Amino acid sequence: MATTNSLPSTLMNFEPQEFSPIRWNNGALELLDQRLLPHQIHWISYQDAPSVAHAITDMVVRGAPAIGITAAYGVALSAMAHRGTLSSEDLTPIMADITLLSNSRPTAINLMWALDRMKLCLLKAVAKHTAIDAIVTALIEEAISIHQQDIHFCHSIGDHGADLLSPNSTVYTHCNAGALATGGHGTALGVIRSAFTQDKISQVFAGETRPWLQGARLTSWELQQAGIPVRLVTEGAAGHTLKHNSVDWLIVGADRIAADGSVANKVGTYNLAILARHHNCKVMVAAPSSTFDLTIHQGDDIPIEQRADQEVTHYQDIPIAPEGVSALNPSFDVTPADLIDAIVTERGVIERPNREKIAAHFDS
Ligand code: MRU
Repeated sequence: MATTNSLPSTLMNFEPQEFSPIRWNNGALELLDQRLLPHQIHWISYQDAPSVAHAITDMVVRGAPAIGITAAYGVALSAMAHRGTLSSEDLTPIMADITLLSNSRPTAINLMWALDRMKLCLLKAVAKHTAIDAIVTALIEEAISIHQQDIHFCHSIGDHGADLLSPNSTVYTHCNAGALATGGHGTALGVIRSAFTQDKISQVFAGETRPWLQGARLTSWELQQAGIPVRLVTEGAAGHTLKHNSVDWLIVGADRIAADGSVANKVGTYNLAILARHHNCKVMVAAPSSTFDLTIHQGDDIPIEQRADQEVTHYQDIPIAPEGVSALNPSFDVTPADLIDAIVTERGVIERPNREKIAAHFDS
């Protein structure tokens, strides 16, 4: 167990002022167990990196920015747990934990981005200090700063995205890109929350999102709590809903955006983007710049997580398909840039994204 008594008290706790699924409490990481929502509010406490990696794989925490923040705290926990044996000459245990954390889920680049940032912080701290406590302090500060920055960026994304909406807009969203998927506020739901406070939202449709039901369990819960009018729709009802409801915008988050502007997000996003084009509904992707992976030249090169057949053949532990039937269970799909009207980041809006506009967005 990590000993924390020689750390300054200001580093022992961080709980954002607004709702967040992640908190740092008395030198331990606490995650709201998203598998139990909306019916149970249950926080789990973590004190070592391997159990944090399991929590990410097992979907206790999910959503691209949220798993990045969680992994950053995981690195801080690793330094605390190895404090007795760690030396600035031998960082092997902490580097092994970073590798473990980076393998916890493959598609969301925010995870690798946060771990790279923590690794850089570690190397800088080691170059500057020999005292282990100073290194541990630097890592906790960095994890808290990643968490704070994500919330701040979500608000900027929300404001930039809301500027694109007209009053009385009807919006469709998929999966959960809300406070639960980030440090707080959300990306796609950040846009919806910000637009709602400006009286621009008349109706939100939330797709249920098989097989984990993030839309049914998480998005409809978040929107209901915020008093935003939400109607839940099944995956199969998406075409009918877009045909008959004059939906103005499809607004989704992202797990990784390639240099050509194509977007990996929860499986089903690609179907919705095609439907949206057919029904004259615009498509907005809301994501912080940590979701871009400019080393990936084109969207089809983004690694797509394949999850267990059992998630499709069973509902929770109850079989819903004949025994022995196998399933295809990609967790994400890739929407090409030409189906996207706007990508919104904390820096602003990239309209009708392409390779040149994305490069320019990051040059400025
Ligand atoms: O499998 P999940 O629940 O982690 O998938 C989440 C999504 O696809 C979100 O849309 C994405 O991570 C953006 S979250 C701001």
